[in-house]
Amino acid sequence: MTLGVAVLGATGSIGDSTLDVLSRHPDEFRVVALAAGRNLAKMRELCLRFRPDYAALADREAASRLRAELAGEGLATQVLDGPEALETLATLPEVGAVMAAVVGAAGLPSTLAAARAGKRLLLANKESLVMAAPLVLGAVQQGGATLIPIDSEHNAIFQCLPPDAVIGQAPRSIRRLLLTASGGPFRDFQGDLSQVTPEQACAHPNWVMGRKISVDSATLMNKGLELIEACALFGLPPDKIDILVHPQSIVHSMVEYLDGSVLAQLGSPDMRTPIAQALAWPRRIEAGVQSLDFVRLGALDFRPPDLVRFPCLPLAIAAARAGGTVPAVLNAANEVAVQAFLDRRLNFLDIAAVIETVMSTVDAGSATDLAAVLGADALARDAAARAVSACAAHRGPGT
Ligand SMILES: NC(=O)c1ccc[n+]([C@@H]2O[C@H](COP(=O)([O-])OP(=O)(O)OC[C@H]3O[C@@H](n4cnc5c(N)ncnc54)[C@H](OP(=O)(O)O)[C@@H]3O)[C@@H](O)[C@H]2O)c1
Repeated sequence: MTLGVAVLGATGSIGDSTLDVLSRHPDEFRVVALAAGRNLAKMRELCLRFRPDYAALADREAASRLRAELAGEGLATQVLDGPEALETLATLPEVGAVMAAVVGAAGLPSTLAAARAGKRLLLANKESLVMAAPLVLGAVQQGGATLIPIDSEHNAIFQCLPPDAVIGQAPRSIRRLLLTASGGPFRDFQGDLSQVTPEQACAHPNWVMGRKISVDSATLMNKGLELIEACALFGLPPDKIDILVHPQSIVHSMVEYLDGSVLAQLGSPDMRTPIAQALAWPRRIEAGVQSLDFVRLGALDFRPPDLVRFPCLPLAIAAARAGGTVPAVLNAANEVAVQAFLDRRLNFLDIAAVIETVMSTVDAGSATDLAAVLGADALARDAAARAVSACAAHRGPGT
């Protein structure tokens, strides 16, 4: 029997890698549904190639054009529209596994829906855990879902844990986790970070990713979001998680046990590995990923992160320690600031300045209900928009 899969965020980088793995195993998986935001041309191409039963675009106008174009091609794919369509697709009875790969807070409702519906939840959308870990983990438990992390670091830790480990609960045998970080494109940059461009920030040395996560990787916010994600997934406080810059991105993360043993998961920097692991778990399937050549690699390097040059990371560590809605505030401020940087309204260093301003002005609360989380998210977005305008005004036109 084939496993029906819904790919949310199908037009993105994780969507590409997921569809590549699925297309290698037509006897095991069936693409039931594809969903994304607004990229009509790419969604049309994917529908023609994978012929899903359902497709959805959050942008209603783009969805309506997709519907007309697919009908013109004689395709039976049913096209849904609007943000709520992603939740519908995540809960279809014929869907067994949901790849949650929408970028940003927009991914939270469909992540929750898949968890409540008891699906195999392949969670790439780290922002939903950062914002609302208690809600997501509660929904997983109530719905009887199986959550497997897709972020390569968390997937690596998942693979290094004892087989009976439960998501959200740290096995007693663990001393600490070691979360590796590539260091991003500016890890060895000696110039003025306030002058770097979005193109430079998105040119990641090891991974091909979407623009938002690429900027997060350049600021090291990505590692901060991952620290918060790791605390939730593995039930550990931030002090039990160390971050190590590892420029080669070969060791994807490690688990240190009480007896001093350190288990690591290694592999080429290719997201098809964690995606295939999560799709087939506990089995293993071919992912199209090249073998590692250890002789060519020669050495694996590790060093501590630079918390002074990359202030987003300490801000995220502070949010992890504070808990409640503070990580949701951090996440929302970061999304607004990163978009402003990509739109050239903010310089690279101002990303952290905006986040710090927002964290110091928006009141924190408990993150145990969705209204509180979404309320904090909205307040933080407003505060971040004001902080972005203030930074831009301070710098003046054309700077
Ligand atoms: N790329 C990686 O290697 C990697 C690794 C680990 C974790 N992740 C995480 O995986 C997620 C996706 O990353 P990515 O690199 O694949 O990003 P990406 O290439 O930018 O793709 C983002 C996807 O989300 C969709 N989307 C955006 N806004 C939406 C909305 N409001 N409603 C519905 N869909 C929406 C986009 O659709 P349209 O383009 O059609 O608008 C696109 O399909 C992120 O949370 C990221 O942190 C990525």
